[in-house]
Amino acid sequence: MPKIDRVLVCQNRTCRRQGSPAVLATFKANPVADVTVEGCGCLGQCGSGPMVLVLPEETWYDRVQPGEVVAVIEQHLLGGQPVKAMLYRKFHPSR
Ligand code: FES
Repeated sequence: MPKIDRVLVCQNRTCRRQGSPAVLATFKANPVADVTVEGCGCLGQCGSGPMVLVLPEETWYDRVQPGEVVAVIEQHLLGGQPVKAMLYRKFHPSR
């Protein structure tokens, strides 16, 4: 699988209302070498936010809370294992 190089955190209106600025800030406060984390426009999943998308593998996390970000960083971005309990079921139904 190609190496993770980018994480998008939706900053559009609905996700923002659900707390996505704090999620983005937590990622930014815990940088990972060679991984760019950036805010983005609507990911088309409004209401399930804050939405986080890990690229290029297209792993989706929904309803991400700031307190969960470190698990994503440690287990997934650094450890290579998606955090199963946090996966967005709509796009990862079997995991
Ligand atoms: S506002 Fe975040 S998915 Fe639409």
